[in-house]
Amino acid sequence: MKDNNKNTKNIINLENNKDLSNQDKKYVWHPYTQMQLWNAQNNKVITSGSDFYLIDEKNNRYLDGIANMWCSVWGYSSNPVIKSICDQYKQLPHSTLFGLANKPSIQLAEKIVKLAKGMSKVFYSDNGSTAMEVALKMAIQYWKNKRFTKKTKIVSLENGYHGDTIATMSMGYVDSYFNPYKSLLINTMKVSAPSSFEKNLDCFMSESEIVEKCLAETESLFQKESQKIAVFVMESGAQIAGGVSIYPKKYQKKLSELCKKYDILLVLDEIATGFGRLGNMVEYLAQNSEPDIVCYGKALNGGYFPIAVTLATKEVFDAFLAPFDDNKQFFHGHTYTGHPVGCTACLTNLELYEKRKLIQQIQKNSEYINKRTRELADFNFVNRIRHKGLLLGIELIRPNNNPKGESKIKKKPLLFLKGLPVNHYIMKESLKRGVFLRSLGNIITMIPPLAISKEKLEILLNTNYEILKTIEKSQN
Ligand SMILES: Cc1ncc(COP(=O)(O)O)c(C=O)c1O
Repeated sequence: MKDNNKNTKNIINLENNKDLSNQDKKYVWHPYTQMQLWNAQNNKVITSGSDFYLIDEKNNRYLDGIANMWCSVWGYSSNPVIKSICDQYKQLPHSTLFGLANKPSIQLAEKIVKLAKGMSKVFYSDNGSTAMEVALKMAIQYWKNKRFTKKTKIVSLENGYHGDTIATMSMGYVDSYFNPYKSLLINTMKVSAPSSFEKNLDCFMSESEIVEKCLAETESLFQKESQKIAVFVMESGAQIAGGVSIYPKKYQKKLSELCKKYDILLVLDEIATGFGRLGNMVEYLAQNSEPDIVCYGKALNGGYFPIAVTLATKEVFDAFLAPFDDNKQFFHGHTYTGHPVGCTACLTNLELYEKRKLIQQIQKNSEYINKRTRELADFNFVNRIRHKGLLLGIELIRPNNNPKGESKIKKKPLLFLKGLPVNHYIMKESLKRGVFLRSLGNIITMIPPLAISKEKLEILLNTNYEILKTIEKSQN
């Protein structure tokens, strides 16, 4: 592997003598990035990968602690998924689903429908945001097709996140991200989620009190507006981007029951939480909930191809059927909808899950993380640790405001460290240690590739601990 890296490096140097980092600064606009800060930084240019490491042009290795934005499953060495992708490219590089069918998209749809109990049909798109747009359009048109023309309203949870397109920003509004686009957003109604209470760092309500309050508020809205509400949208199992909040037991199940009671379609977003992130293959089944529409992306394809799916029940699908064309069909599709290479990646990925008993491995590794959380919680500037499966969030607060045990002093989030926004500081400290971590504001997140070994997980956890120690020292 080392030789391969050298070769890659040589090829890049031969083809382009310019410094890649500077070329990047000159030409590339990075996502969710203050480019002025970026341009002042010594940025890493990744040129290869091996095992669970990303390797830069100078041959420095970084253990991936965020699964390449939460999608990587097997890491970066060659494996059967990559081989199947190469074979599929040779066999059929692309064939549209507009007017034609292709074999990998059929096989994958069958496989997913068998896993996702209660679901009947698979609609393909390219990424999580488009999958959620598809879900919303389906839900709205479902009622139109059934001639319930008043049912058009959208309800979703506070602090949810469903993507960056206009409708997904509207459904999952996170103010710190989307405030500049407020004037573009479509109307949605928001109800409190457990995170609404957790965001108040001084909230001392018990988990069951929080659940009760959330459900009562949601039911009250449903009671008043159910004739007009088309759909209720939420992440399944946990909210991540809006602040790492793991749902209390039965919360999702009870919301699902409320949707049934008031005849409102339930759309679940499993893009970040499905296929193992929280220790379950299909999170909504583990939560005993019954969605009408559910979306997957990220881990579905192992992190190798931009593809996502929106699944619908037979009841939803049937509402789009008509003996002749009367506008009941679903008007949505992308150039790469049902891309055979993407579908092949997903198929082989899911086969590998079974062969390598990945869910069992995740559950074991989750137990290991759980054991280590105690030491991570033992800093007076760590407020709360959130952990489930291979998702870990460490919430940082300003230490002077929270001497342990003095509950009357108001807690405040830790936003800056050594003159840097805290997320920049964490990333810089982790890269220095050969690890790539990316925090969500004041919450350090560890979201590793799902197939990571215990040994590598230990390195990630040790690095988190070391960074916390460094923060502690910087406070003294
Ligand atoms: C829950 C959830 N939904 C949707 C998305 C959007 O996915 P994508 O970035 O692939 O558009 C994300 C991305 O992080 C997500 O976490």
